[in-house]
Amino acid sequence: MALVPKHIKELSPYKAGKPISEVQRELGLEKIVKLASNENPLGPPKSSVKAAQDSLLECHRYPDAAAFELRKKLAARFELKMENVVLGGGSEGVMSTIMRTFLKPGDEIVTAENSFIGFRVLANASGIHTNWIPMKDYRYDLSSMADAINDYTKIIYLANPDNPTGTYFTVDEFDTFMSRVPERVLVLLDEAYFEYAQDVGNFPDSMHYRYDNVITLRTFSKAYGLAGFRVGYGFGHEDLIGNLLKVKLPFEPGIPAQSAAIAALDDGQYLENTLTINDNGMRKITAIFDMLELRYIPSVTNFVTLVFKDGIQAKEFTQTMLENGVILRHLIGFGLPECVRVTIGTVDENEFFIEKLHNTMEKIV
Ligand SMILES: Cc1ncc(COP(=O)(O)O)c(C=O)c1O
Repeated sequence: MALVPKHIKELSPYKAGKPISEVQRELGLEKIVKLASNENPLGPPKSSVKAAQDSLLECHRYPDAAAFELRKKLAARFELKMENVVLGGGSEGVMSTIMRTFLKPGDEIVTAENSFIGFRVLANASGIHTNWIPMKDYRYDLSSMADAINDYTKIIYLANPDNPTGTYFTVDEFDTFMSRVPERVLVLLDEAYFEYAQDVGNFPDSMHYRYDNVITLRTFSKAYGLAGFRVGYGFGHEDLIGNLLKVKLPFEPGIPAQSAAIAALDDGQYLENTLTINDNGMRKITAIFDMLELRYIPSVTNFVTLVFKDGIQAKEFTQTMLENGVILRHLIGFGLPECVRVTIGTVDENEFFIEKLHNTMEKIV
């Protein structure tokens, strides 16, 4: 159709992890475990469910467009002003607002070749020229990314820790990188998995830096267990945030989502359980990988990525696991055809995964 711009025609639709109901329908299996989308396996915090339920009777009204309570709470938590906080429908919603606010024709983006697919979709849809810098050993090559900055560069996108590799860049690496980024360039620092990585000794917590040209993105979708509600947030200099507030869709997130997020912030026990179960699960699963001599990328998140000999073996592994009732993510769409990502589950889900892993490895190797 002549109506559709070329860069939109050439996009492929975003392919999310398969839903359990679809696999159940297709394969007729009794038990299915989904470890494909880096979700929190514990279910949402009970306090959030109650808060969202209590808010339903208010849903004939529009949400508070200023999202006063939630922004205030987030600002207080991180010793900021409310004017430093912007919300969105997931952190992807905030990302989308950032792209619409700051980019204009002629600008360019710099990011890593195999990083978060959600950003890739937004970059491709924007029609803005993007410099995709190859990763090195499944890590950001920050030095080559800094080399790629030119007079047209407007946004640099970094996910730390990264999805789908689970790797991170250190304080020193980030400091060296930032010393090479001009102030006119906006760094989008996506910390969707921050809570899982925060205790790693040399992990840079971007909130401590307060650079005027950095926006930090975080989310309620992972460690807070609210992916289906769609709440994400960004922190930055009030001038940047003030402009984002002019462009953002005014009523995102919705009322139940705002209520659920406010409750989750007060539920320290839920977050603690999440991190403990994830740590234990990660240790258990990677110990089995070691025992089976499977190659994987060490991760500081709630997922771990297996590296196979080639794309054919990775595809066969994913398919065999699926036929056994375990939904995993083959990373072909992320440009890593040899890789399969495994989200850490509950104790039961991890046991099921390990049992099926043994069966599968006997078949495919
Ligand atoms: C690195 C990264 N950023 C952002 C997101 C999106 O999160 P949200 O649900 O907040 O849009 C994800 C989700 O998988 C992610 O892995």
